Amino acid sequence: MRVLVTGGAGYIGSHTAVVLLQAGHEVVILDNFANAERDVPERIAAVAGRAAGLEEADVTDAAALARVFARFRPEGVIHFAGLKAVGEAAEVPLEYYRVNVAGSLTLMQAMAAAGCMRLVFSSSATVYGEPDAIPIPETHPLRPTNPYGWSKRMVEQIVEDWGRALPGLGAVTLRYFNPVGAHPSALIGEAPRGTPNNLMPFVAQVAAGLRPRVSVFGDDYDTPDGTGLRDYIHVMDLAEAHLAALDLAAAGPGVQALNVGTGRGCSVLEMIRAFETASGRAIAFGITARRPGDVAVSLADPALMRQRTGWAARRDLAAMCADAWRWQSRQS
Ligand code: WQD
Repeated sequence: MRVLVTGGAGYIGSHTAVVLLQAGHEVVILDNFANAERDVPERIAAVAGRAAGLEEADVTDAAALARVFARFRPEGVIHFAGLKAVGEAAEVPLEYYRVNVAGSLTLMQAMAAAGCMRLVFSSSATVYGEPDAIPIPETHPLRPTNPYGWSKRMVEQIVEDWGRALPGLGAVTLRYFNPVGAHPSALIGEAPRGTPNNLMPFVAQVAAGLRPRVSVFGDDYDTPDGTGLRDYIHVMDLAEAHLAALDLAAAGPGVQALNVGTGRGCSVLEMIRAFETASGRAIAFGITARRPGDVAVSLADPALMRQRTGWAARRDLAAMCADAWRWQSRQS
């Protein structure tokens, strides 16, 4: 298939581009490099053994999208391009809605104009908000607690409504839990700018000696060791989930939302210990206050994704830490 990957130079997009290329798809990446390094497309080519096309453009740029659709004639689109910092979203909500919601709309309009009817959208488990039940099924109520989560939920709603109006549309919105790790080649990975917001990249930087210690945000949650429990998923498993979702979108019309997680929980302390084992380094940490907005537990029910696509996560916590450490060790 000819596949347009928006945000294909980003963290999850770059790993997905590799998996698509290795599966034999023709790929064009559209990225504005707002949060990606310039050499990522070359690195993708080095890992995959062949290159993706590149269009440097913004997903909110309708003229650029029209050009890409005219030239490349994509049969499917995987849409990652967007802003993703939860804290920043609360400070500049209009910018998040402009890029994430209006950008997605612009893309869907370009798809509609070109007759492209296969879409995989990068959503998030954050659309569930505070969970009523664990593990979380797709039928759980949707009540995001911040503008970032709302931007993802709004796009899901737009895709659902588009599917009702256009019965030929095949679309899958993937609700990711906590993506971590890197490609085992260590040629691509997550390169956070400034202080990492997320646990794994922070732990990796402490192991590398770049930061003194990990702040563990609360040890009085209702969990086995009192620290937050999350469903971490290896980014390569997540990339493979996109390949499966694209096949599902191409197999027939309909709009579906699917969880992408492992269904297994890992606490903050378990993550620190696993990373110590993977890196062979001692990782200093201290307990601090809870981070506002955090929930005690977030775990996927991944059964529906498995049932619909046959995909299931294969890589364990040791592999997530080993691959993240290899990537961190190659950073200057
Ligand atoms: C994991 C656990 C923290 C950092 C966020 C977004 C979510 C999604 C993924 C996009 C929690 C604890 C963390 C630290 C810590 N993004 N922690 N010290 O919050 O589950 O999810 O990223 O869709 O929307 O909210 O991930 O990695 O930030 O935190 O103790 O320095 O680690 O309290 O229990 P989170 P995270």
